Amino acid sequence: MKIRKCLLLFFAIALLSGTASVGTASADSDDRYGNERNERYGIERNERYGVERDERSERRERYENNRGKGKQRFLSPVNNALYSEECSSCHFLYLPGLLPSGSWNKILDGSEDHFGEDLALEKETTEAIRKYLVGNAAETTRARRAVKIMKSLKGETPLRITKVRYIIREHHEIRSGVFKRESIGSFSNCGACHTTADKGIFEEHYIRIPRR
Ligand code: HEC
Ligand code: HEC
Repeated sequence: MKIRKCLLLFFAIALLSGTASVGTASADSDDRYGNERNERYGIERNERYGVERDERSERRERYENNRGKGKQRFLSPVNNALYSEECSSCHFLYLPGLLPSGSWNKILDGSEDHFGEDLALEKETTEAIRKYLVGNAAETTRARRAVKIMKSLKGETPLRITKVRYIIREHHEIRSGVFKRESIGSFSNCGACHTTADKGIFEEHYIRIPRR
């Protein structure tokens, strides 16, 4: 019995010191609401920032993807070259499942004044992009996030993902100053904090808020 207690104590100490070292290794990012502490999110390594993703995260990603088999758990990543080419030069390449087709249609119909920019798209280009976005819009998938987005919209077709009620609700605890940080810029820059956003994965485990 005594030996078992000793072992338990040993493990407890090992665990505690493990957590502490994770905390220091990730001192360059904040916790989920932008506070200066990051133990949970610090475990994640983001390739974009030139840091190696750790093995544990990869295993977990594989596990989560497989868990969704048959039911589609995550939003589909972008798999359309024309859309990537035309719509990723100024900002994060938004996944089609983040907005309903009504929104994508509005956005494409207004491409001459796209938030102050003239996208100067050829008609055929616009129509090809439309086909892809509308064909993969939020109402076409059973992915969990898309279903929540559709539910919260109640028929609305906002021009922005950042105007979707569900998306606003999920971020209401983040201080506005956090979005203004240099490497984030704005709420619209999903990939800055959601390190797997391009893969359609917005799960908490992969969030890492840059501190600057
Ligand atoms: C020339 C630069 C440029 C290109 C190219 C561009 N956009 Fe944008 N887009 C913007 C700007 C500027 C905003 C507003 C960003 C902001 O307010 O932070 C924006 C915002 C958006 C938003 C709303 C993001 C939010 O806040 O939820 C969507 C959706 C979007 N663009 C889709 C597209 C699509 C689809 C294409 C391709 C047809 C495209 N964009 C190409 C400049 C561009
Ligand atoms: C400043 C960093 C940041 C930016 C930028 C950001 N998010 Fe988030 N996001 C968070 C945090 C933090 C949460 C809350 C996690 C929690 O409480 O579970 C969250 C939660 C979410 C969730 C719910 C995840 C869950 O597990 O329930 C979704 C979906 C999401 N964000 C999508 C987006 C999209 C789409 C964009 C871009 C339009 C975006 N986020 C931009 C930090 C960010």
